[in-house]
Amino acid sequence: MDSKRHLNTLMVHDKDQYHDQFGAVVPPTYQNSLFTFSSWEAIEQAFEDKINNSIYSRGKNPTVAFVEQKIASLAEGDKSKLFASGMAAVSAGILHFVSAGDHIITLKNIYGPSISLINDFLIPKMNIEVSYVSGTDIDEIISEIKPNTRLIYLESPSSVVFRLQNLQQIAVIAKKYNIATAIDNTWATPLFQKPLSLGIDLEIHSCSKYLGGHSDIVSGVLIGGETLIDAIHVREYELLGAKMAPTEASLLLRSLRTLDLRMARHQDNALKIAEFLNSHPQVALVNYPGLASFPQSALAQQQMSGFSGLMSFRLKTDDLVKIKTFFNNLELFQIGVSWGGHESLIYAPAISCLKEQSPEQFKKMGISLGDMRISVGLENVDDLLLDLSQALKLIE
Ligand SMILES: Cc1ncc(COP(=O)(O)O)c(C=O)c1O
Repeated sequence: MDSKRHLNTLMVHDKDQYHDQFGAVVPPTYQNSLFTFSSWEAIEQAFEDKINNSIYSRGKNPTVAFVEQKIASLAEGDKSKLFASGMAAVSAGILHFVSAGDHIITLKNIYGPSISLINDFLIPKMNIEVSYVSGTDIDEIISEIKPNTRLIYLESPSSVVFRLQNLQQIAVIAKKYNIATAIDNTWATPLFQKPLSLGIDLEIHSCSKYLGGHSDIVSGVLIGGETLIDAIHVREYELLGAKMAPTEASLLLRSLRTLDLRMARHQDNALKIAEFLNSHPQVALVNYPGLASFPQSALAQQQMSGFSGLMSFRLKTDDLVKIKTFFNNLELFQIGVSWGGHESLIYAPAISCLKEQSPEQFKKMGISLGDMRISVGLENVDDLLLDLSQALKLIE
């Protein structure tokens, strides 16, 4: 298909790549583990180029490969590999770049389990060193570079507080020192932020969020240049084995058809809600990169072309009874941990933190009892605003 066509056209049309499938408008799901060959020579030939041939579905399955191609074009990468979960993609991506004794620079506010992967697995099992930085100051990153630094691992916007890193600036520095760069780009989606075109080596997504978009699949993806993705394919993908199932790939393909429609609605709804919360007397602050008052608004406008539906805000009150009253009386915002689906959700970081730490301890981490994370869904925004409004009224 003509690659100059718009991305939403590329996401909707694929018939020309499936003309031999009885004219099926939806590509078939190849629900099979292996592929057979007509002769010794034929299978021998397939093994010579195993990246491009379907031999066994732990390596390449045609349905999964078809969706990988679509996601790669969405992100302006050469190739992608789909994994069983976002964390499978994060783990494979990081493990690809580091060996025992290497050093990683990353942020204090990346996704919690990504921090646990480093602290509870890579450090004790592989003697990896790590420097946690704010990510907002390039000099701080440069000052942490060591002879054994192999990877700068980013997440922009980061989790919970949604702080940005200047991707182009970091990519230039990393190249100068011959350090690889990877980014968890789940928040922005490949539609709203194109890290590969800003010089980042590896783009990572949890497809369980906006790419899947309907809260019915768990999956992840790595996107990058051909050499990098082929190297990950033969090592971390096939050997760690966290591959994506063909049925999940079909669901993901269905979701990609409507990605730009859904993201436009998530963005519109989220901006209205962020503005409402930002001027509400019961709310102390709102973290949403799409707000004009967001501290890094200029960088957000420069390196992203849109904003998704996940944000956090802080209730003014510290009174746990009032906080729970607000939380438990929302009718449309359902209580749950994930985000990026059709439905609006709410979660409070204090729920997990209170189990492990005192309010004083997690205040030191910058988290407050009244911090709320909401994923703004596809409902009518007036209904969502009314819902927030009535729950906030209860704690006046
Ligand atoms: C920013 C971010 N990255 C990665 C992940 C992990 O994705 P998954 O749950 O698909 O393993 C999540 C999950 O919430 C996330 O929020």
